[in-house]
Amino acid sequence: MRSDIGRLPAHGANAQEAATTREASYTKVARPGAVPVLGHAPQFARRPLEFLASLSQYGDLVRIKLGSHTAYAVCHPALVHQMLVADRTFDKGGPIYDKLREIGGNGLGTCPASAHRQQRRRIQPVFHHQRMPGYALLMSEEITALTSAWRHGQTIDVPAAMHQLTTAVTVRTLFDAEGDPSRLPAVQSHIDALAIGVTRRVVWPLPVLHRLPTPANRRYEQARRELHKITAALIHDHHATGVDRDNLMSVLIAADAGGTLLSESEVHDQVTSFLLAGVESTANVLAWAWHLMGTHPEVREQMQAEADSVLAGRAARLSDLGALDLTGRVVTETLRLYPPDSLMTRTTSTDTTLGGHPLPSGTTVIYSPYQLHRRADLYSEPDRFDPGRWKDIGKPPAGTWVPFGGGPRKCIADTFAHIQATLTLATITAGWQLNPIPGQKVRPTGQAVLAPHKLTMRLHQRRTTPPGTGGADRR
Ligand code: HEM
Repeated sequence: MRSDIGRLPAHGANAQEAATTREASYTKVARPGAVPVLGHAPQFARRPLEFLASLSQYGDLVRIKLGSHTAYAVCHPALVHQMLVADRTFDKGGPIYDKLREIGGNGLGTCPASAHRQQRRRIQPVFHHQRMPGYALLMSEEITALTSAWRHGQTIDVPAAMHQLTTAVTVRTLFDAEGDPSRLPAVQSHIDALAIGVTRRVVWPLPVLHRLPTPANRRYEQARRELHKITAALIHDHHATGVDRDNLMSVLIAADAGGTLLSESEVHDQVTSFLLAGVESTANVLAWAWHLMGTHPEVREQMQAEADSVLAGRAARLSDLGALDLTGRVVTETLRLYPPDSLMTRTTSTDTTLGGHPLPSGTTVIYSPYQLHRRADLYSEPDRFDPGRWKDIGKPPAGTWVPFGGGPRKCIADTFAHIQATLTLATITAGWQLNPIPGQKVRPTGQAVLAPHKLTMRLHQRRTTPPGTGGADRR
């Protein structure tokens, strides 16, 4: 990876002067190709990823039109970083968050900056590193449960299998340690339906289209209602057992340090937000990782060698992470190539400037990890899967690798997700090889969450499923 990015923030005594000079040099342009009434919506809807990746060739701040809606795409990594850090000025809002609020209300991921600090303070301890050993144990149990049903030669729907796993892990670690497995398939399918519905509403921001009684709109509304019922049941169960399981649900239901209790609807919003945020992203990263390993057998062989030598036939544990160096880099590189949240929006809460250009209050701003991660001036051969590019690299320059966002709104569960993905890839790689189906062309679905469309793979059993889940390993 190149670290000589032209205009990253300067350091040292001349930083202020350099920043002023640089501010003047950031470009702000309109992307060509808008058609009357619909703007860029047809291009975006047809090929969303190509559309996003194309933006940086026009400038650092690129004006686009989706229907009557104008937005500025922030393309330069330094400006993305500036925007993410200034979360009160570039507040949660814009088409994606407006739609997500319809589902998750004012939960942690969707609430405005004015409510965010307090919420984050309350919830942050749930993701403290001391909690990770306990979560890793539950993750290992669920990975073993998933693969215990697999058979040699069987063909599996990879995204569905990974969704099954991440739904179980999210529900068990955060809400319901005892687990009621009968709920899980419903949670999974409603989350899928909502992800599809949100994408349609962002790409075609014409409200009238989404009020029509079409099958797609009915599915979306039904999924919203049903997920609401499931979260109500999770909350009810927690109250009914009366046991403090020391998880996210306990934190939401108890009073915070200042004695404040959340209302029932606030608890509801948080549960829904976490279900949405927790299930989809990790599942899709894992599905892409299997696809990339299947199409890069040389990397897969090295991962098998690593898993064989580190795990010696058992399931991966938290304490193995340091030794699972290649597996960790595969996760990082998959997050670069296929960041699940390929596009996110903000709204300016006041008149401001970015890169020296004025942006009035109420402007919609978007940033796209996909666009940044595929820039040839940041990554050599950006479309190539190369976990080697992360070897012995320190922290990437600000704004260049942002699958988890950044600043105060950075993903609260980035460590949790990285651990889950690494343990899953290593444990499954030790026991199974997932082979591509010849002739199958895998492409992204084009949903709000970047997911592979129709990815089936054939299972080859390398050895019997690891027996233990590493129960004694509590670092
Ligand atoms: C590989 C997996 C994941 C990826 C790539 C990911 C990505 C992201 C991104 C990009 C954001 C910031 C959004 C923005 O800037 O608008 C975010 C926020 C968030 N994520 Fe994740 N996420 C992942 C896994 C998870 C998991 C497993 C959970 C929960 C269990 C979770 C919960 C959240 C929450 C609650 C926020 C909002 C944080 C805040 O505003 O303070 N994420 N995530």
